[in-house]
Amino acid sequence: MFTSIQDRAYQSPKVTIVGTGQVGGTLALRIVENNLANVVLVDIVEDKPQGLALDLMQASAIANHDRQIIGTNDYSDTKDSDIIVLTAGLPRKEGMSRNDLLRMNGAIVQDIVSKIIPLSPNTILIVVTNPLDVMTYLAWKVSNLPAHRVIGMAGILDAARFQTFIAMALGISTSDVQAMVLGGHGDLMVPLPRFSTINGVPITDLLPEEAIASLVERTRNGGAEIVKLLKNGSAYFAPSAAAYLMVESILGDRHRIVTAAAYLTGEYDLTDIYMGVPVQLGRQGIEKIIKLQLNEKELATLHASANSIRENINLL
Ligand code: NAI
Ligand code: 2OP
Repeated sequence: MFTSIQDRAYQSPKVTIVGTGQVGGTLALRIVENNLANVVLVDIVEDKPQGLALDLMQASAIANHDRQIIGTNDYSDTKDSDIIVLTAGLPRKEGMSRNDLLRMNGAIVQDIVSKIIPLSPNTILIVVTNPLDVMTYLAWKVSNLPAHRVIGMAGILDAARFQTFIAMALGISTSDVQAMVLGGHGDLMVPLPRFSTINGVPITDLLPEEAIASLVERTRNGGAEIVKLLKNGSAYFAPSAAAYLMVESILGDRHRIVTAAAYLTGEYDLTDIYMGVPVQLGRQGIEKIIKLQLNEKELATLHASANSIRENINLL
């Protein structure tokens, strides 16, 4: 009379999340509560993904969704994933340099990607692990996937922070603010006031220059501001919302225009680098990289950000 949950599972896309910490866990919650896809949770820590999966499955009875969640330490469970989201990594600890973090998370990303991609050769890989642009470049290299199927998440988050600060300054809804932040996910990211609007009206017409400069600065430090407040860990609600938007745009073939780290082959006069630029996202991954008409100053700032990413790529 009834089909089993296993029989029904094939109808749903499969999203694997590697790293079931704060970002991975909240992303899984968003995906299943929106009935978007079945989720496989993978972590190196034994029993943790299994416990989270069970908790999420039990929530389904209350939160009104029918998606399956599997928790595992075994990559074979991830076979044929439509999307893999990489959120595994170590946070930077006291006494650890950025370069130490680069090497440690680099080793983690390399290990995971080399094991997981052969099981899902048609997948789209979304990288969240920091340092974002460098880890996305590394994941692409190790995966051997076409570059349009390896994408880094950061620009949506950085733009959301800029949108929030603009909305707070003007006392309006964030829903009416559109913002653009390009470049690397770091201190040298490039918020673009000329391309940030209130329903089409540039913020440069609505706010004085000094006010905009302070919103730009706060955006650049948006991640660090939260780390300082949380004291133990970094932001995860907004990051998981940003990763969810990417997953949803891809699975729904929505052709959404968002900023994400993409592989550049001459766009913005940059080559062989992953960096945040506006892209069109659909079922094939990055369908198009959008080229904005930047002025000289904006382009120079973007290139400074690219130089810093390249320096870190060279340290890998
Ligand atoms: P977290 O520490 O809460 O979770 C990380 C998880 O990765 C842990 O469960 C850990 O056991 C797991 N892990 C570590 N090594 C692993 C391995 N080899 N295989 C499988 N799992 C492994 O960290 P959180 O807050 O979830 O952040 C995750 C990553 O995302 C960090 O690198 C963080 O800096 C980055 N991040 C990036 C953002 C962006 O905009 N791109 C925004 C927020 C976080
Ligand atoms: C953030 O921007 C830590 O990259 C993370 O919140």
